[in-house]
Parts: sequence; C-alpha cells; structure tokens
Amino acid sequence: MQSSVLKILFIGDIIGRSGRKAVSAGIKEISEKENYDCIIANVENSASGFGITLNVYKELKKLGIDIMTSGNHIWDKKESEELIGKFDDLLRPANYPEGVPGSGSKTVYLDGCKICVSNIMGRVFMPLSDCPFKTFDNIYEKESDAFHFVDFHGEATSEKNAFGLYTDSRAAAVCGTHTHVQTNDDRILPGGTFYISDAGMCGSADSVIGTSYDKVMRRFLYSMPSKFEVEKKGRLVFNAVSIFVNKDKLSVEDFRKIKIYFGE
Ligand SMILES: [Fe+2]
Ligand SMILES: [Fe+2]
Repeated sequence: MQSSVLKILFIGDIIGRSGRKAVSAGIKEISEKENYDCIIANVENSASGFGITLNVYKELKKLGIDIMTSGNHIWDKKESEELIGKFDDLLRPANYPEGVPGSGSKTVYLDGCKICVSNIMGRVFMPLSDCPFKTFDNIYEKESDAFHFVDFHGEATSEKNAFGLYTDSRAAAVCGTHTHVQTNDDRILPGGTFYISDAGMCGSADSVIGTSYDKVMRRFLYSMPSKFEVEKKGRLVFNAVSIFVNKDKLSVEDFRKIKIYFGE
C-alpha cells in the first residue's frame, strides 16, 4: 500500500476481559503486517460486559486504541459518566438529548487529513434517543470537508441499511456495532461510502454474543432472572475492519474484514 493511503482499523464491541485479551492478541498479530494510523474501537462492553472503568480505559489506550466509541451500555458503570465527560477520545452516541455528558464525535488530523469520528445510535429496539439521521446531518453540516467515519450502534439491520444509504457519499465509512456478530454485507455503496452492518465483537468465540451460555439459558428456557456474565473459557475471537483511505480524495479506497481466532 502506498504512502498516499491512510490506514484505519475499526474494532467491534469489546466484551469484558476475554474481549480485551482478544484485542491485545489481535492488534499484535495484525500489526506485524500493517501499521495503522488510527485505531477506533467500540468499548461499551469492555468492563466485565457493562460499560467502561478508568483502569479498562487506560489498558485499552496502552493497547493502541486512539478513539473509543460506545452505545447503550456505556452508562452501566457509574464511573463511565465521569470518564465520558473527562476524556474527549471516549465517545457516547451523539443523539443522546442535550444535557447528557460527553460528546458523540471527535475530529482529528492524521497526516494532514481531517477525520471526523462519530458514534450514533439507532432507535429500533433501542433506548430512546434523538433522530440518528438528523443527528448525522447536523454533524456533517458543520464539517463537510472531513472524512466522516460513523460507528452506527443499532439492533435492526433495516435501520442500519437505511442509515448507510441515507449518508451515502457524505459519510465515508459506516460500521455497525451492537449486534456483536460480523456481517457479510461489507461493500462500497453507490455513492462511495464503505458500509458493514456489524463489524463483529471481540471476546469468547463460543458464547452467546460474548456472554456465558449457562447464564443466558436460564432466561431463555425458564424466563427466570439471571445475571449475565462474560464467558471466560474457550476460544477467543477478534473481529475488526481495515479501512484504507485515499488521502487526496478523502474516500475509502479499499477495505478488508478481519476475523482471527485464538486458542483453538
Ligand atoms: Fe455491545
Ligand atoms: Fe449496545
């Protein structure tokens, strides 16, 4: 890859300690082949499956994560609220109502390229929030000269698809999160936007989207309350997406889905 290309790595939802181990191993392995200019990761489940703590934030920074996105689970730890107001590289969805601490987007300059990273949450089967579509319009209007990367955190693929097409040619890349399973619909949309419904999670490979099977089954089989726990046993999976940005055009030139298993 020539030097006219900027390399961005996007890592999907990191699930607890298993997820952090997968991220550590995954970054180590891919860094041997590729040097990334910017690593973005969704951290909403990074501290024991729920939210983030200061220690986990520091651990993820040490692993090389530059910008952190999140979602509905960001508030699960009381500490998150304080952190989100303190660190501007830790984002919460931009379409939370006015008055919510923190920010939903961050602009950085990488080798002279203006990159705006935004975190926006869907509204279908998700907590109440402002309109994700209009939220993007507002972000884009303020910085239409930037390369816009969006982590769209949503449950319904229909809403994610709609968001991709709605922002096509304005957003340069839209990567979905929240459903934790890497999807096979990665492509460049007609207007030039890179799109994937879900980048996939990092965590226990043989679990229920990162959570211990035994704990989940109590709910599914008996509708009985059960405290979800991060699965710690077995194989790990690292899911991510590489995005290669043409620096002159500020558009996605190439992309690659990544899925690595550890501890077979
Ligand atoms: Fe998640
Ligand atoms: Fe989520």
